[in-house]
Amino acid sequence: MKQSCSWRGFYFCVINMFLFLLAVRSQLTTDFYKSSCPNLSKIVRREVQKALMNEIRMGASLLRLHFHDCFVNGCDGSILLDGGDDTEKLALPNLNSARGYEVVDTIKSSVESACSGVVSCADILAIAARDSVFLSGGPFWRVLLGRRDGTVSNGTLANELLPSPFDPLDTIISKFTIQGLNLTDVVSLSGAHTIGRARCTLFSNRLFNFSGTGAADSTLDTGMLSDLQSLCPQNGDGNVTTVLDRNSSDLFDNHYFNNLLNGKGLLSSDQILFSSDGANSTTKHLVQNYSNDSGLFSLDFANSMIKMGNINLKTGTDGEIRKNCRLINS
Ligand code: HEM
Ligand SMILES: *[C@@H]1O[C@H](CO)[C@@H](O)[C@H](O)[C@H]1NC(C)=O
Ligand SMILES: *[C@@H]1O[C@H](CO)[C@@H](O)[C@H](O)[C@H]1NC(C)=O
Ligand SMILES: *[C@@H]1O[C@H](CO)[C@@H](O)[C@H](O)[C@H]1NC(C)=O
Ligand SMILES: *[C@@H]1O[C@H](CO)[C@@H](O)[C@H](O)[C@H]1NC(C)=O
Ligand SMILES: *[C@@H]1O[C@H](CO)[C@@H](O)[C@H](O)[C@H]1NC(C)=O
Ligand SMILES: *[C@@H]1O[C@H](CO)[C@@H](O)[C@H](O)[C@H]1NC(C)=O
Ligand SMILES: *[C@@H]1O[C@H](CO)[C@@H](O)[C@H](O)[C@H]1NC(C)=O
Ligand SMILES: *[C@@H]1O[C@H](CO)[C@@H](O)[C@H](O)[C@H]1NC(C)=O
Ligand SMILES: *[C@@H]1O[C@H](CO)[C@@H](O)[C@H](O)[C@H]1NC(C)=O
Repeated sequence: MKQSCSWRGFYFCVINMFLFLLAVRSQLTTDFYKSSCPNLSKIVRREVQKALMNEIRMGASLLRLHFHDCFVNGCDGSILLDGGDDTEKLALPNLNSARGYEVVDTIKSSVESACSGVVSCADILAIAARDSVFLSGGPFWRVLLGRRDGTVSNGTLANELLPSPFDPLDTIISKFTIQGLNLTDVVSLSGAHTIGRARCTLFSNRLFNFSGTGAADSTLDTGMLSDLQSLCPQNGDGNVTTVLDRNSSDLFDNHYFNNLLNGKGLLSSDQILFSSDGANSTTKHLVQNYSNDSGLFSLDFANSMIKMGNINLKTGTDGEIRKNCRLINS
């Protein structure tokens, strides 16, 4: 706590205070592995750093993996499990989309060589997500630890619970509400789309005949519309990708919100946080506030990540500490 307070200033002291309060409630602690794996954070940081040097987008991919893990059976590493025909990996929001599994394997094996059988895959994912944000220029927070790994990966549940870019805003809000997350969390966490990429197939509905109107989505900036129409022609390759934040695609900053003010959100689910059709006045004001106050965004994002990391925890003797993140221990 001393280090963060002198190091990054006021906002981070506040984050650590929140974190202390949350720690008391959630049974997780920041020093859970203090004696069983003292070098854990160094090991994860080094591996994430290597992965980002190899491919900068990997930060976004690791952050998204933690989110998709937490929304399905809680933050229990269930998204990492292989095997079976209804796994989370095979669910629509993840298939050919979620990435970073090999990086998680690499981190896990480094951690196992230092402290075997001690650290959960769920915790590794939570630390890797934080490091990804921090190393991409975003805020730092102390990650709460002590999660245990689940033994069930449920693809059906992933399809039901994960938000879709085609969902209307009230559906997105309710998918967060059932996880215990509120409107502040919806908007601040959507700010994760300040890094990373998305495939044409996930926004091309906006480009030609939006909701059967015969025209493009009118909330989309016209310059950006024509760029995207050439990148993603009708009947073209839906797997082509483009950046979620065209202003600063690999930097974790608050420009995502600026984009929304200017009709430059990429996904429909991004733009509806702000644009008049179906917009909610609270999400709209949060977008405005984050766009002109990057400190507020950093603070709220870090707090929302901590909240998200506390969803439906397995602790104590629930679950297990997986040896291999892809397989349950037998
Ligand atoms: C609000 C509801 C959300 C929706 C509808 C949504 C949807 C999407 C979609 C469709 C993509 C592109 C996937 C692809 O191209 O295959 C994406 C990418 C991404 N999402 Fe979200 N997302 C949401 C919230 C979040 C949250 C809460 C986080 C993390 C805190 C997050 C982090 C990311 C990141 C970092 C990427 C880029 C991944 C990469 O480049 O590999 N998203 N999201
Ligand atoms: C932690 O890493 C340091 C070097 O950075 C090493 O000297 C020490 O033995 C490691 N501790 C454990 C418990 O692995
Ligand atoms: C997966 O979730 C669905 C929907 O909630 C549920 O009906 C099903 O029993 C679950 N499957 C497993 C293997 O837990
Ligand atoms: C969301 O919850 C946080 C506490 O977790 C609170 O500070 C914030 O005001 C809430 N936001 C809304 C819009 O209710
Ligand atoms: C747009 O979609 C609607 C409904 O899907 C369809 O009836 C209409 O013909 C389409 N318009 C154009 C211009 O393709
Ligand atoms: C996208 O890529 C996946 C995996 O390589 C492939 O199965 C799928 O057919 C591709 N989709 C299109 C539209 O090319
Ligand atoms: C990003 O936005 C800022 C203004 O907010 C502008 O000065 C800068 O040129 C933009 N950068 C890119 C790459 O669009
Ligand atoms: C915004 O969403 C919240 C939560 O669902 C709801 O209580 C509120 O009425 C909505 N506001 C508007 C203007 O739709
Ligand atoms: C946005 O900021 C203004 C000015 O600080 C504040 O009055 C308002 O409550 C904030 N809105 C939201 C939704 O947080
Ligand atoms: C940010 O924008 C909001 C709403 O547009 C406004 O009320 C507030 O004064 C602005 N704050 C700053 C620091 O510019």
